[in-house]
Amino acid sequence: MGSTKRQISGPEGKLGVLLPGLGAVATTFIAGVESIRRGLAKPYGSLTQMGRIRLGRRDDGKSPLIKEFAPLANLDQLVFGAWDPIPDNGYEAAKKAAVLKQEHLDPVAGTLAEIKPMKAVFDKNYVRKLDGTNVKQGSDKMDLAEQVREDIRNFKKENGCDRLVMVWCASTEVFMTRNSVHEDIASFEQGLKKSDPSISPSMIYAYAAIKEGVPYTNGAPNLNCEIPALTQLAKDNRVPIAGKDFKTGQTLMKTILAPGFKARALGINGWFSTNILGNRDGEVLDDPDSFKTKEQSKLSVLDTILQTDLYPDLYKNLYHKVRINYYPPRGDNKEGWDNIDIFGWLGYPMQIKIDFLCRDSILAAPVVLDLTLLMDFASRAKMYGIQEWLSFYFKSPIHAEGLYPEHDLFIQLMKLKNTMRYVMGEELITHLGLDYYGYYDEPY
Ligand SMILES: NC(=O)c1ccc[n+]([C@@H]2O[C@H](COP(=O)([O-])OP(=O)(O)OC[C@H]3O[C@@H](n4cnc5c(N)ncnc54)[C@H](O)[C@@H]3O)[C@@H](O)[C@H]2O)c1
Repeated sequence: MGSTKRQISGPEGKLGVLLPGLGAVATTFIAGVESIRRGLAKPYGSLTQMGRIRLGRRDDGKSPLIKEFAPLANLDQLVFGAWDPIPDNGYEAAKKAAVLKQEHLDPVAGTLAEIKPMKAVFDKNYVRKLDGTNVKQGSDKMDLAEQVREDIRNFKKENGCDRLVMVWCASTEVFMTRNSVHEDIASFEQGLKKSDPSISPSMIYAYAAIKEGVPYTNGAPNLNCEIPALTQLAKDNRVPIAGKDFKTGQTLMKTILAPGFKARALGINGWFSTNILGNRDGEVLDDPDSFKTKEQSKLSVLDTILQTDLYPDLYKNLYHKVRINYYPPRGDNKEGWDNIDIFGWLGYPMQIKIDFLCRDSILAAPVVLDLTLLMDFASRAKMYGIQEWLSFYFKSPIHAEGLYPEHDLFIQLMKLKNTMRYVMGEELITHLGLDYYGYYDEPY
């Protein structure tokens, strides 16, 4: 299947990257981009920068870098802004996050220090473990949304940006469920005016971004831009939205391994996952309500990949448990253990143990970069509403009502690449390949 190339406006000018949350992920992302710009590092982990995309037949030998294939903004065009209830500038925040060594912070310290967080929309009821002084005051939640909209416009003007994107890199909010306030734009706006408790700070940022025509991405697991009021607003205002919960660490491993077991019809009886981490994210997740949000996000992955209803013999007895333990000595350097009880031919049991000594923010930073560039690309390609083709980057991909999310990393990658081929007017790749063996088409 081919496609006609869409009209895509060019990536000229400055692209402002607005980040609610100037913590470990955000500062590691900014410091990394600044180091790469200066030629001090390579963009490891970034599909847009280091990945390639095959075009045409396998014998055509055409596999350009994604960043050369699609008109993406380049790293020199990015300008950063943030909101945070903690007033530390980007350098102080990066020092406290303690992800990067001093030798990696020194060359970019000046640029990081220039990033002073704007006053946040913050409410302790939604992130109980944090206190902040750099917080907006407003008569009601609509007033707070208006203030964020004004910040967005001022940032754009003061920094001479042509376009903006917003990526939520702030703390995980408490577990919330959808209710009538979220169901349509009118009730949501009414709720903003009445400061309804079902509207969280993250929803206020999302609303402000969409109203300003700024592509919005949610990197945390909390209920946010997937509520019908905001998906509708995104459609009406022709704004792309994506989320949620950056796929890194243990869940990334799950979505790599589980499709493999299923592909080979290997059964699974149990998957026990536990983590220790000691960063601020870990502290926030120590609150049971924030943990519940994360737990739901992490648990949903296996059920959907393994399709228990379609494969009861293999997966109906699967016991899946996820634990997150706050353990300060480890800082951002998480350790994740998985014990997987699988079974094969004649039901013989086997075990797999994974001990992933990972670095959360090191895995998340390139995801933020890719989402920044691809959401800007989507917007210029006139794609709007939920960007399901970016599921590749999320633990809980948001999706159209009535669909199940696609969690399998390899399907997600194919979807992402085929979407890019489609938008750019290239042939889609089905991996059929029978045409390399012409005799299949000859009469028998
Ligand atoms: N690192 C990863 O691998 C990974 C993966 C998936 C999701 N996430 C999510 O990304 C988010 C950021 O992670 P982190 O490690 O940088 O956490 P962090 O605690 O270091 O940083 C979060 C920052 O957000 C700020 N914040 C809290 N509420 C805010 C608000 N209402 N407005 C603006 N700022 C606010 C906090 O003050 C803090 O500085 C978390 O929600 C985390 O769950 C991270």
